Amino acid sequence: MSHNEKLARTMEFPPATEQPNVYPLSWHAGTAKLEEVWDASQREYWDVKKLPWATFDPARYNWEEREAIAYWWTLLSVFDASAPPVFAEAFIKTYEVHEEDAVRRCFFSVTRDEQNHEQMCGAAITRLLEHPDPLTYSPKTELGKRLQKNAKWLYYNGGRYWTGYKAAVPKYPLAVLFSSFLMGEIAAATIFHQMAAGCTEPVFKEAFRNIGRDEGRHMAICMALMERDYPKMELENKALITKQVRAGYLFLSAVLFEPPMDFWDLPEDFIANQRAGETVARKAGFQIPEYETKKENWRNAMLNLKSVLDRYGIPFPAIPEVGITGQEIRDIDMKDIIPVF
Ligand SMILES: [Fe+2]
Ligand SMILES: [Fe+2]
Repeated sequence: MSHNEKLARTMEFPPATEQPNVYPLSWHAGTAKLEEVWDASQREYWDVKKLPWATFDPARYNWEEREAIAYWWTLLSVFDASAPPVFAEAFIKTYEVHEEDAVRRCFFSVTRDEQNHEQMCGAAITRLLEHPDPLTYSPKTELGKRLQKNAKWLYYNGGRYWTGYKAAVPKYPLAVLFSSFLMGEIAAATIFHQMAAGCTEPVFKEAFRNIGRDEGRHMAICMALMERDYPKMELENKALITKQVRAGYLFLSAVLFEPPMDFWDLPEDFIANQRAGETVARKAGFQIPEYETKKENWRNAMLNLKSVLDRYGIPFPAIPEVGITGQEIRDIDMKDIIPVF
């Protein structure tokens, strides 16, 4: 068929459009819960620029403290700055598979929220360091140098994850992706709740509260979709989810707990550097939870996820690091990862 041939001259109606095709011309309703979440996302939208920045004076902290707090925001950015493109990919997928109208809108809202979270990381780091890029910034203290080395390694590891994610999205049904998303959202809701509770700096406290509320909505989206799709899920997808949960644990531990060294490619002094930074940040009123509290919180988040997956007969992986028994999963690689924040 020549490129210029006009089908319209040969037939009354056009041929069917080959599927999957990126755009649905339909606005099906189905999951009422998702309409509620969308409405909430419209109501609860917040603006990073409108936080009480006037109350924030970085000069109140010494340079060691500034670099230590900026490091925490940088660690968070390794996850939150990848979230906008990660959800943008998932958002496109909801169009390709002609998801319900409200599902498309909900993924749009998650993409928008995550972009906001990323802005927040940037706003905090830029003010604390008086520099917009924690990797090219010149550290002013010895601790700052050690923490920047950590940041460089975190960034390197996060970059490996992006390639794997892009390959995974077309391969897996949305239903499988939801379990990984849910895991990220449970983790995020947990950490922001903790940070909001302990933080003394008003602008950070308010940001943490807002972000935590956003993450709660993201969790609700995943749960609603799981409720819709999991009762009819195929067995092979269940096995895949078990593996993803283990991978998600390893990946997200870096921000929720401490990075497992056999999975993350990090130098030997990484954890010591990070702990030194956390101690300084805590003393300055930036309440990063202590080791045992992190462990307990992360364990509870995992048990929370387990209770959801149990409902659908999806085996939970063993997570001996936090004392959870289950199916043993080995040989997890960065390229197997779907979880996001
Ligand atoms: Fe987020
Ligand atoms: Fe999120």
